[in-house]
Amino acid sequence: MHSLSAYIPDAVLTNNDLARIVDTNDDWIVSRTGIRQRRKLAETDNASDLGLRAAVQALDEAHLNTTALTHVIAATCTPDALSPSVACIIAGQLGASGVMAFDIGAACSGFLYGLSLCRALISQEPEAKILFVCTEALTRRVNWADRSTCVLFGDAATACVLSANADCAMAKLDDVVCHSDGTLRNLIHVGGGTSCAYAMGTTVDEQFFITMQGRETYKHAVRNMVRVCEELLERNHLTVDEVQLLVPHQANMRIIEAVGSRLAITEDKVFTNVAKYGNTSSASIPLALTEARLEGRIHPGDRVLTTAFGAGLTWGAALLQF
Ligand SMILES: CC(C)(COP(=O)(O)OP(=O)(O)OC[C@H]1O[C@@H](n2cnc3c(N)ncnc32)[C@H](O)[C@@H]1OP(=O)(O)O)[C@@H](O)C(=O)NCCC(=O)NCCS
Repeated sequence: MHSLSAYIPDAVLTNNDLARIVDTNDDWIVSRTGIRQRRKLAETDNASDLGLRAAVQALDEAHLNTTALTHVIAATCTPDALSPSVACIIAGQLGASGVMAFDIGAACSGFLYGLSLCRALISQEPEAKILFVCTEALTRRVNWADRSTCVLFGDAATACVLSANADCAMAKLDDVVCHSDGTLRNLIHVGGGTSCAYAMGTTVDEQFFITMQGRETYKHAVRNMVRVCEELLERNHLTVDEVQLLVPHQANMRIIEAVGSRLAITEDKVFTNVAKYGNTSSASIPLALTEARLEGRIHPGDRVLTTAFGAGLTWGAALLQF
């Protein structure tokens, strides 16, 4: 990984802002989720606009011209449209014509699925230079009438450049593992696809929005993130003591604390920024990594463990060496 940049929209939605539109309050949200505020993209922006801004920064940081790119890949569960892909839109706006460009739909595990895919692509094509964007416009798909979900999500984008060239790399991907269980697909659903029938004269129903069975999701999230971290550590012959920082998917403070405690990682070795941004799905881990670096929580030589869980269901873990 040669660079890692984030773009966060300016507009802040606090818990008190939400309490004005739905029957909730700051105490409930903070005690159940740890979230204090989230960001909301501008009316004129879509997921691709956020991703493009992160991408421009990442290319700049990597001192890379768009003409050098071979692939543009975007992870998102809130694309501008069913087609074209967000990756194609971003590649077009960057002037990266001719590159292979496509999206990954792995929801909150999108960053880890993307790392896994990029590793495979690079091993097949050692000359590959991949721009990998994670971008979400989740506030466009939350149901503002559903207090149990609308308080959880926020918007953000990140971008990084990946290639086989280890010289001046910011971080190295040591290992990554990804899983899924489609039989539990109904636990979290982001609507807007072809299953949302839209007959003339009707209005969209709740299936158009994000729906979630919160309690069930919570249990699977904790169990699977813990198991996949143990699987990854075991196959790399490592213990948690040999990991300097855990950067989990920032969905909910209680999930993060439960995962940290079951893995027996002390609180000071767990990075969180969910209070500021809520759940930004695929952008959540790379945004947390960006902030952890800026805050001096990651030092050269550190081994960082990341883990995610999301709709699909999908989940995974990765080991990065900085
Ligand atoms: C969403 C979540 C915070 C809800 O917490 P919970 O303790 O399970 O709460 P419940 O859904 O059982 O609801 C308990 C009560 O709070 C109410 N409630 C739900 N959302 C509320 C809100 N925003 N404000 C106030 N009350 C709320 C419910 O209506 C319910 O009231 P009732 O008992 O009168 O029916 C929790 O289930 C969770 O964290 N789930 C995982 C979510 C997640 O992070 N998913 C993404 C993974 S990628």
